[in-house]
Amino acid sequence: MKDVGVALIGTGFMGKAHALAWRTVHAVFGNDPRPRLETLCDVPREKAETLAAQFGFARATDDWREAITDARVDVVSITTPNKMHAELVIEAARAGKHIWCEKPLAVSLDDARKMAAEVEKAGVVAVIGYNYVQNPAFLHAVELLRAGAIGRPIHFRGFVDEDYQADPQSPWSWRCLGDEAGLGVLGDMTCHLVSLARRLMGEIEVLAADIQTVHASRPLADGSGRAAVENEDIASALLRFSSGARGVISSSRVAWGRKNRLSFEVHGERGMLSFDQERMNELLLYQAEGAPAEQGFKTILSGPAHPPYGLFNPAPGHSMGFQDQKTIEAGAVIDAIAGRESRAVLMNEALAIEQTIHEIAAAGKGRDADSSGA
Ligand SMILES: NC(=O)c1ccc[n+]([C@@H]2O[C@H](COP(=O)([O-])OP(=O)(O)OC[C@H]3O[C@@H](n4cnc5c(N)ncnc54)[C@H](O)[C@@H]3O)[C@@H](O)[C@H]2O)c1
Repeated sequence: MKDVGVALIGTGFMGKAHALAWRTVHAVFGNDPRPRLETLCDVPREKAETLAAQFGFARATDDWREAITDARVDVVSITTPNKMHAELVIEAARAGKHIWCEKPLAVSLDDARKMAAEVEKAGVVAVIGYNYVQNPAFLHAVELLRAGAIGRPIHFRGFVDEDYQADPQSPWSWRCLGDEAGLGVLGDMTCHLVSLARRLMGEIEVLAADIQTVHASRPLADGSGRAAVENEDIASALLRFSSGARGVISSSRVAWGRKNRLSFEVHGERGMLSFDQERMNELLLYQAEGAPAEQGFKTILSGPAHPPYGLFNPAPGHSMGFQDQKTIEAGAVIDAIAGRESRAVLMNEALAIEQTIHEIAAAGKGRDADSSGA
């Protein structure tokens, strides 16, 4: 297969990220199949037309079914709000199209399972947008753990914090509604932390959890009143990994000052690894060796020694960004379609992530009932 026709549905934050990644991926990796930008879909149609011209797609539509069933399209990027993921993924799989869909999978675990079943039945590739596992610094962290750089990993401690809902006056959006978004911080952010934890530490069992909605209602953007927030702002959980290692994670979308603190520490028997996405080109490594007076953390700065960094630029310390992760992810989509080994998060791994966040939600709700005396 020399090339693949691409349809993009949704052109917001993630839609633009997919569009730029599709445009760049062949220039970076040089692999076949090469993306052909066929159809861009958004509503209203005028928006789709403007952005199709801007992003370099051959045509525009406001009808996602038309985009999916177009014979020129082989792979569909789905970057619409969460509520639409299930129907679009299922229709794309039934039409025999490969899929690159944003996280979380769906608003309910039942829908996520249906999506996985349809993808398996159709035998298409479905990659879910867990882009942070593609960061060269993170890939190096995985390699260091495998190579025993800190000895046996014994404890994972993870955070994911942002402050986009910290202001009680920030307007209500679809992200606050159970029917539209599904889970709150768990579906929006914790799922990314779980994607990292699984790749570093293995399968996850949820031992206990707590969730909280801090701001029960928010003002409507048009000033016409307030609407209820139906999902959680904060979630914390105690975990156990298949290796026997223990874990603790905590996430918040009301954490003033944190912009994308997707961070973790892995404590091992002979050292420690530490990472924070706000400084995504740095990995901190502590190895308990050498003279005690000289022991301390070493900062490893991303560079060509951490593939695929060198395909973006040849000089260490010149830094990669969020969008580059999306391009690496597009490369993993291309690899999976071509049948090559791929680092993409495929449907089954995404379903396991989805199960974990729903287990945390269920355990947390149980605690809510306990503490209220219900
Ligand atoms: N991987 C990541 O790091 C990351 C980051 C942000 C968002 N996301 C995910 O990406 C998805 C989209 O989030 P976003 O922040 O880009 O949202 P957004 O609101 O910026 O964009 C959503 C887009 O979908 C379009 N849309 C809505 N209904 C449509 C329809 N019927 N037909 C065609 N297009 C339609 C909207 O017009 C808009 O362009 C969410 O599932 C979110 O969880 C992932």
